[in-house]
Amino acid sequence: MSNAMNSLSVSETRAELFRETLDKTAQKVASDELTFGVEFPQVTGPDGQWVRLPASLSAGYDGDAWSHGNWFCGFWVGLLLSSYVHTGEARFLEWARARMLLVRQRAQDPNTHDIGFIFDSSAVPGHHITGDAWFAEIALEAADKLRARLVTTRNGAYLASWGPISDPRGRSASAIDTMANLSLLYWAAGYADDGSYRQAADAHAEMTARAFVRADDSTYHAVEYDVHSGDRKRGYTFQGAFDESAWSRGQAWAIYGYVNSARETGKRAYLDLAERLADYYLRRLDGRQVPPWDFDATGRDAEIKDTAAAAVVASALLEMARVHPEAHAAAKWQGHGLEMLEALCRDEFTGDGQHGLLHNSCYSKPHNIGVDGATMFGDFYFVEALCRAVHPGKLRPLDHTRIPLA
Ligand code: GLY
Repeated sequence: MSNAMNSLSVSETRAELFRETLDKTAQKVASDELTFGVEFPQVTGPDGQWVRLPASLSAGYDGDAWSHGNWFCGFWVGLLLSSYVHTGEARFLEWARARMLLVRQRAQDPNTHDIGFIFDSSAVPGHHITGDAWFAEIALEAADKLRARLVTTRNGAYLASWGPISDPRGRSASAIDTMANLSLLYWAAGYADDGSYRQAADAHAEMTARAFVRADDSTYHAVEYDVHSGDRKRGYTFQGAFDESAWSRGQAWAIYGYVNSARETGKRAYLDLAERLADYYLRRLDGRQVPPWDFDATGRDAEIKDTAAAAVVASALLEMARVHPEAHAAAKWQGHGLEMLEALCRDEFTGDGQHGLLHNSCYSKPHNIGVDGATMFGDFYFVEALCRAVHPGKLRPLDHTRIPLA
């Protein structure tokens, strides 16, 4: 790993806005933490209250209906940890440690790729911040389960996303969201000094680039593979408007995942792809800072936004700027990332006394869950981006593998 990097340059006015937002975030997180008992927040409902779920709720099929279960619980630990990073107040760390123990059981969950989201937002930064080995042991348990989802075909290997991989539906299905979960495998490769985690992540990134990215650089939400040949049988959606549409958060996960894959492998092709995916996203934004939940939604539906997608992209672009080997491109991506982040702070941050951090997140429009409210993942990636801007290196490490010039 090289420590060479671009440092983000944030104007004092923006840095002040970001720090004030983190101050208010820490206050909101502290007051909500005292109300949850052993449950965890998921999304805010139409009444503005958090919907809560136990950490133990796994993903699964009920007949043919698929439920993602509680993949939100790690993000709450991540918000407690980032509030600790920002304030230095020990109570946040104590809460994060206690909550991590409630989440721990999910590290053994064989049903979902979402264990990447759960533990990359909690145990991985927990270990980075405290150095406590037990955080790392939990993250490694989860990384083992994620690596075990690798399906090897004649033409590449991919991580199955949804369901037990012994179930044919689960074994053949992969989602673009999984690109964001590769971070857990990259982390495990470094921590355990075991290249098999990186090989699994890299194989998945290669195959996803071939099967998910359309000619115009938009992405499918999901792909059904032929498990023997590795051919794409179909591209489809679960949370987007229709199978061929551009679900904005899917595009966000793809950008985020290829930035991280470039940083970890040093492969220029992943950075180039991340830039093409981000260019597509910016084209469809057409001057806005927050996308609609689906770029191809029409009528009244097109007015429904997804601030979570904006937060994921803002965080990814700041990271792209940091690791980019060309100063001009780095400056361009930093500019876009900071503008998006500023717009979220200015226009979408919830008021005093309201739950959650960002208005107008959209978990799943087709299922009518978490539309127009806060979502745990939107809030987490928003705060991750703020920490990248004003607390570089504190929530996430600054190391990266050198990426060659174009
Ligand atoms: N499963 C990740 C998402 O809803 O974006």
